[in-house]
Amino acid sequence: AAPTADGPQPTPHTQAAHDPISSDFHARWTRADARQIMRTQNDSSVARGENSMPESITMPEIPADFPIMTDEVWVWDTWSLTDEYSNQMSYKGWDVIFSLVAPRDIPFDERHWSARIGYFTRPSSAEPDDAWTYGGYLFEDETSLSNTEWSGSARLMQGNKVRVFYTATTFGEKRPGTAGKPAVLATVEGAIKATRDGVSFSKFGEHLEIAEPDGTWYQTQEQNPYFSFRDPFTFEDPATPGITFMLFEGCGAGVPGTARTDATAADLGYVDGDPFAETVDEVNSQGVQWQRGNIGLAWADSKDLTSWTMLPPILTAYAVNDQTERPQMIIEDGKYYLFTISHQFTYAAGLRGPDGVYGFVGDGVRSDFQPLNSSGVVLGSPVDLNLPADAPESPTAGQNPRQFQAYSHYIQPGGLVQSFIDNVEGRRGGTLSPTVKVDVDGATATSAVDYSFGDDGLGPYAYLPTNERKGGVGHY
Ligand code: FRU
Repeated sequence: AAPTADGPQPTPHTQAAHDPISSDFHARWTRADARQIMRTQNDSSVARGENSMPESITMPEIPADFPIMTDEVWVWDTWSLTDEYSNQMSYKGWDVIFSLVAPRDIPFDERHWSARIGYFTRPSSAEPDDAWTYGGYLFEDETSLSNTEWSGSARLMQGNKVRVFYTATTFGEKRPGTAGKPAVLATVEGAIKATRDGVSFSKFGEHLEIAEPDGTWYQTQEQNPYFSFRDPFTFEDPATPGITFMLFEGCGAGVPGTARTDATAADLGYVDGDPFAETVDEVNSQGVQWQRGNIGLAWADSKDLTSWTMLPPILTAYAVNDQTERPQMIIEDGKYYLFTISHQFTYAAGLRGPDGVYGFVGDGVRSDFQPLNSSGVVLGSPVDLNLPADAPESPTAGQNPRQFQAYSHYIQPGGLVQSFIDNVEGRRGGTLSPTVKVDVDGATATSAVDYSFGDDGLGPYAYLPTNERKGGVGHY
């Protein structure tokens, strides 16, 4: 374990639940919380560029000679075909995953502007190490609501129906026939067909916009060109069956530099009299008005999940971090675990943390979420946090060459965590990482990487096993 350094106390969080629909309560991931990283999860005595975090929150090192899934496309953000409880559904003997993909002949760092949703399949009877088959793009060309398709989720509905949620982002010229809005959440329903030979998708209906930033709770592009609004994830709470919720990544509304975006004492979250507390004025003078990540909530007011009511965010990271991406809610034994991914370079001034997974636990969909491990860090890429935060294109000399090893982690049943390989010692990935396993203890609000899983903590590459099945005997 890392030695404890001087620093503030974390903010007390009760985990208490509030009504998800009628309450506007939101949890705050505070500066006091985020400062627990350097206080309790960083070893200041490591040699320059060594990993300074405890093993319990460090993703094991991915071998530099990792295999790639396909020569055709870069592969990054990935999600499974699920039911309303995030169970991974085998359909007629086939496993299906969806990934953002882009042609492998463009530079990896330019992939976002060419992103499409692609899919991979394999027989449910496959061995964990068996390859996935790339099925191509999910939607026909020029049918989605924008010129790029960003992350989302996919639900197996009645019969052979699949409802896809995604982010429709427009960069540069809008595609003719589209509204060209910068970022909206979208949905479309289609059909999945499985035969002995493989899986295909067809019959996608009209793509519908289901949400855009409102400028009241969620920042618009007019308010801030660097706003985020993306990554829809739907789920049901077993405590309120029949109501479908959606999480997404947003930013707190307002124009940076106006009073509305100033941090408040509650965003800082220091306990009274803490000798390590910062003042609101001090923090606001450092430009933290630009770091306003939040996790948004909406609920479906139509049974077919095409109409949604926006609700206030459930978690804010104001003056802490600008991106709380790909949020997921995992509900187990009456506890609600909220996971999100974030970067080192999106932290506000004065804060330092790794690229990776952050997690929180509470008693309901909307609750006073307590950061896991006090700080929120659950799984980070190996990094020396004693060196300044880096953007991927300009690493500090001597920094750990695995600080951007993996990203876009996706939490699966049983604590399995999937991600894509970004940069391992200079080799770019664009393919799925070995799956790792994280054990979360709700009672103590802590987590630890399970090093007994796989090979010293590294499971099979691209391991997204199904845990529920629907239809047919097919390939079992
Ligand atoms: C995470 C992410 C998502 C977004 C996608 C775009 O890796 O930033 O938030 O949908 O990548 O490529």
